[in-house]
Amino acid sequence: MSKKKKIGILTAGGDCPGLNAAIRGVGKTAIVKYDMEVIGISSGFLGLINKDYIELSENSLSGILTLGGTILGTSREKPFKKTGHLSIDKPKLIKEHYDELGLDCLVCIGGNGTQRTAAGLVKEGLNIIGIPKTIDNDVWGTHQTFGFDSALSIATDAIDRLHSTANSHKRIMVIEIMGHHAGWLALYSGLAGGGDVILIPELDYDIDKINQYLLERAKKKKPYSIVVVAEGIRSPKKRSAASFISEEIEAGTGIETRKTILGYIQRGGSPTPMDRLLASSYGAYAVDLISKNDYGKMVAIDKDKITSIPLEEVGGKLRLVPTNHPMLERAFGLDICLGGKYSE
Ligand code: F6P
Repeated sequence: MSKKKKIGILTAGGDCPGLNAAIRGVGKTAIVKYDMEVIGISSGFLGLINKDYIELSENSLSGILTLGGTILGTSREKPFKKTGHLSIDKPKLIKEHYDELGLDCLVCIGGNGTQRTAAGLVKEGLNIIGIPKTIDNDVWGTHQTFGFDSALSIATDAIDRLHSTANSHKRIMVIEIMGHHAGWLALYSGLAGGGDVILIPELDYDIDKINQYLLERAKKKKPYSIVVVAEGIRSPKKRSAASFISEEIEAGTGIETRKTILGYIQRGGSPTPMDRLLASSYGAYAVDLISKNDYGKMVAIDKDKITSIPLEEVGGKLRLVPTNHPMLERAFGLDICLGGKYSE
């Protein structure tokens, strides 16, 4: 009789809704469908460095589908990052502990940084499967990461709520949405929430043109305006995008302006049904790959088909909003100001 397969699973990088659904998808499929053993590794790659693990049973995976956060904990530990000549060889330690545990594969659930580390561990000779998550939706090689749909609902709800208070006071409201490099969340929530101005890191802006646009709106007796900005847009060092843009708007238009920074609320709480489905599907598909010894891949979605892509193709790349993306054209067509420099 062949030996039972034993897999490890970790969540790394910033948390997001759907992590527990993915852990459950991996764990239940591995235990129930394939009779594998499943080891949960604490706090991302730190757990493999410090030997902090727990065995996961079918029962311990029950009741977590709807929970936010991650039952395994997470960290931003980057084992390949050089931190000085005296530092320990973390990839070597990870390999040693992986072998000591007798793992056949390590499932790494995370964003870009995690997939890059995962690709590095493949080169070190480990069997790895990556699963893409992040509210930023910027993992290269997949059309969608889980976490994005939940964050989109939260951000859209927040923008919806700004309309009534903006209208009551006849103000301009600036809201800052997460996304250092990619503007997916700001663009989609801005469109869904009826933003008048949407600024994303991929498109530069001209503050004078934005102010002109806002003054035009005021002239047309539009009582208020909503400005949605991604946190990663150009702004002076140490200033939040929302603070900078709201001060520039108030100074340039003379209209009372307020700012809101939505922050970590976007990453908290229960995943939406779509994120539960995506995370569960990614988890199940990851284990199907493991059952076929098909390692070194990241699971992905291509339109509506779950598929996979070699990790070496993913590592180190970002999926940004392309400047010819149809959503930008749609926004432009709706007379939304995209910073004054975009033209169809
Ligand atoms: O998860 C991605 C993200 O939410 C980015 O949009 C954000 O800039 C970053 O994480 C901040 O996370 P942390 O403070 O945990 O590093």
